[in-house]
Amino acid sequence: MSCSTSELQMFLEVATEAALTAGGILQSYFGKLDTITEKGRPGDLVTVADKAAEAAVLDVLRRHLPTHSILAEESGALGKQDSEFLWAVDPLDGTTNYAHQYPVFATSIGLLIAGIPQVGVIFDPSRNELFRAARGLGATCNRQPIQVSQISKLSQSLLVSGFAYDRHETSDNNYAEFCHLTHLTQGVRRSGSAALDLAHVACGRLDGYWERGIAPWDIAAGVVLLEEAGGKVTAYDGSTLAIASGRILATNGHIHHSLSTELLNVPVKVQLEGAVPEK
Ligand code: IPD
Ligand code: CA
Ligand code: CA
Repeated sequence: MSCSTSELQMFLEVATEAALTAGGILQSYFGKLDTITEKGRPGDLVTVADKAAEAAVLDVLRRHLPTHSILAEESGALGKQDSEFLWAVDPLDGTTNYAHQYPVFATSIGLLIAGIPQVGVIFDPSRNELFRAARGLGATCNRQPIQVSQISKLSQSLLVSGFAYDRHETSDNNYAEFCHLTHLTQGVRRSGSAALDLAHVACGRLDGYWERGIAPWDIAAGVVLLEEAGGKVTAYDGSTLAIASGRILATNGHIHHSLSTELLNVPVKVQLEGAVPEK
């Protein structure tokens, strides 16, 4: 299904209104939380700010686009589920950072049309950075066009990744991958916000990102943002991304093949060349 340019622009404006409203709410609660609750797994937090920001996003989406479906992190699936339009909403991506007053978090709002991310808005209220993109219309930060970096060698790249909340329960926890890539690159960051990770690859501050255990609301907006900024988004093996698969590989395009190859060949134990053996 294809949408006209004016329809995509209208969806972009609705998502922008929702993200800016949510960002204002997040700023108003920042550093003022009385209670922080665990919502299931240890360390998986939710706050009054997540809920208030989500309610504001839902209000804007329902007011402008009442027939569209919504998948929101704190509320789950909402609205008619037979619509071709599905909004994937993370009102506060980076809740752990937020709860610790570490100012790295964002609101992420993506629109999937017939299952494919087509519109994305990510708002970082701490830096007042508004990332926006729509399929075929380019990607911007604060209304200025953005592009991915030109880095083409892993050895010159700066990457980012993350660790899902089930990391204590599985050996498939991304630790080996993180170590392996740390030795092959100029560094691997862990920001704590998947949406900002994708936004920062899109604007060239970082060269690549991968993660497992990730949800559609974490990445829907970032996928279209990065693709419109000239980047590439796939499964780890380079095949087409399935948004609900839980795994994503996203790069500037130039290091995509190399990063994919390394992710598929992570040694069980990372060997340090020249390292002094333990006594
Ligand atoms: C989390 C962040 C983090 C990623 C986790 C996500 P939340 O989202 O995006 O960077 O590593 O997998 O769950 O819980 O802060 O919305
Ligand atoms: Ca999230
Ligand atoms: Ca969240």
